[in-house]
Amino acid sequence: MSRLGVFDSGLGGYDILQQIQKKYPEQDLIFLADQKNVSYGNKSRAELENIFNENMTFFKKKRVKRVLVACNTMSALELEYPGIELYRIIETTASKVEEEKVIVLATKFTVENHAYKKYLTEKEVIEIALPNMARLIESGASEEEILEEIDSHCSEYKDSGISVVCGCTHFPLVKEQIYSYFGGKIYESGEAVLGLPIYSQGKGKIDVYTSGDPEEFAQKVYNIYGEEIVSHHAR
Ligand code: DGL
Repeated sequence: MSRLGVFDSGLGGYDILQQIQKKYPEQDLIFLADQKNVSYGNKSRAELENIFNENMTFFKKKRVKRVLVACNTMSALELEYPGIELYRIIETTASKVEEEKVIVLATKFTVENHAYKKYLTEKEVIEIALPNMARLIESGASEEEILEEIDSHCSEYKDSGISVVCGCTHFPLVKEQIYSYFGGKIYESGEAVLGLPIYSQGKGKIDVYTSGDPEEFAQKVYNIYGEEIVSHHAR
């Protein structure tokens, strides 16, 4: 099998990339942080479709044949693209949920499209959009700002012990705050996708691209992971 493309609007997808790289160090990866278009979650379906096609054009130019959509919002669109095999993350993440009742925290688009409810038909699912969260995470917001965003949408469930599905790949980056607020189990896509039968042996080469500012993206990765990376401009 060949190298695997991975994309998201930014840091959420990078978190998934890191988890893949740790578990499958020989997998060749090409990552696209579509920072020019963050945040995806507050955009319309038509805008997201255009962005999806632009991103697929990028992977096509790089001769990538398999792409993991490391973004719930884009996965919720359920689009196909000729010549590229796509792996989406919502069904895989939902399949891990054990509890009868869960909160799904996600972007506005994912919640409005009931993208998780569709795969959790037997359960009681409370879908809550956190419309500012991805942007706050990208901008390196403080713990207080993160908790304020959670509290302004979820106060009814504070300290309830309810389990939470991070229905946006950015949200595991603030899982300590999510845990401290709700107190229950936390599900994340990064863990769930590691079980997909899509990984192969290569040289462990990782190429990172961004549609935004490469230095700024490398700085964000350094701030979060303490890791120095080289990031390239995507187009
Ligand atoms: N990380 C993305 C997701 O999983 C979207 C974040 C954004 O709104 O850009 O939905």
